[in-house]
Amino acid sequence: MLQALMNLLSLCWKPFGHGAADIGVTGSSLSGGGGGGGGREGKDGLLWFRDVGKYGSGDFSMAVVQANQVLEDQSQIESGPLGTFVGIYDGHGGPDAARYTCDHLFRNFKAISAESGGVVTAETIERAFRQTEDGYTALVSDLWSTRPPIANAGSCCLVGVIFQQTLFVANLGDSRVVLGKKVGNTGGMAAIQLSTEHNANLEDIRNELKGLHPNDPQVVVLKHGVWRVKGIIQVSRSIGDVYMKKEQFNCEPLNPKFRLPEPMNMPYMTANPTIFSHPLQPNDSFLIFASDGLWEHLSNEKAVDIVNSNPHVGSAKKLVKAALHEAAKKREMRYSDLHKIDKKVRRHFHDDISVIVLFLNHDLISRGTVLDPPLSIRSALNH
Ligand SMILES: *[C@@H]1O[C@H](CO)[C@@H](O)[C@H](O)[C@H]1NC(C)=O
Repeated sequence: MLQALMNLLSLCWKPFGHGAADIGVTGSSLSGGGGGGGGREGKDGLLWFRDVGKYGSGDFSMAVVQANQVLEDQSQIESGPLGTFVGIYDGHGGPDAARYTCDHLFRNFKAISAESGGVVTAETIERAFRQTEDGYTALVSDLWSTRPPIANAGSCCLVGVIFQQTLFVANLGDSRVVLGKKVGNTGGMAAIQLSTEHNANLEDIRNELKGLHPNDPQVVVLKHGVWRVKGIIQVSRSIGDVYMKKEQFNCEPLNPKFRLPEPMNMPYMTANPTIFSHPLQPNDSFLIFASDGLWEHLSNEKAVDIVNSNPHVGSAKKLVKAALHEAAKKREMRYSDLHKIDKKVRRHFHDDISVIVLFLNHDLISRGTVLDPPLSIRSALNH
């Protein structure tokens, strides 16, 4: 019965907006160049995990589950002299923009921070985003005539940086970071969302878009029950998606379904991150960074509760599994049946999901400890 359903789904499956060819790297790989932070790494079907490891300010846990034919999520942790940098990149329209961002954003951040005397500020982070967007746009320019679908690949981009005693959060799109904060001495833990999302399902974002395009009544359109920018895409900020930013990429040979009927006087999407800084306090206990695939199935409170009531080891994997249990439940399936469904067909049940949990050790934070040798870890490129 399940097999028949899967075959049927497989026949019906048309990846939406997926046109970008795979860059050609397959197989699970850990491409981190530096130290690995210790701890166990493993794979269980489409799930990849690093149960626990050490970064500059404590333990981390990391997990990724693939749903798409080609993994569109990428994630990384870098910890060293510039503090700790976490990135979650949730790609769409193929893996290209997320991979590019994972390859370049931290590198740009490091170079810009070095130029600025080894200091991290909101401004240095913003410049790293801009340089990455410019680099990706240049790549699209080069490939546009031979691989036009590259123009409709994009990536949400969530970054957290812990530098000295401050946490910076920079975001484009709809990934999310949630802080677990101790409440009094009761053992209670509050869930505090630290990132601002840019998805047209939020009224604020629709109002922002209408304000930027006052003469365009079609700037957000409700399509198949979902609000979309120009009736096409749900997020309003990203790296890539140059077809929504520059008119020269919104014409032939772009796939007609992404082409706008009228000239573009102003970009419909931007790569300007919302940046927030937060001085870390002793009652800040842990941070959960995750792509939209997790938050589709778990509330902020539920996620914080799961991390708070389990050991550090394997906490990211626990979150992913809890989301998969919810996804299965919504289809009246058992988790064990969902587990048997292969990538691509999986996308009907859930999206790619990436999770990084950082536990905050305030002894290490107040001493300003720098991890030596540095940690550089990146999730698997594809399964
Ligand atoms: C956390 O600690 C700060 C001071 O370090 C205090 O101002 C704040 O009220 C505390 N928050 C909670 C939720 O207990």
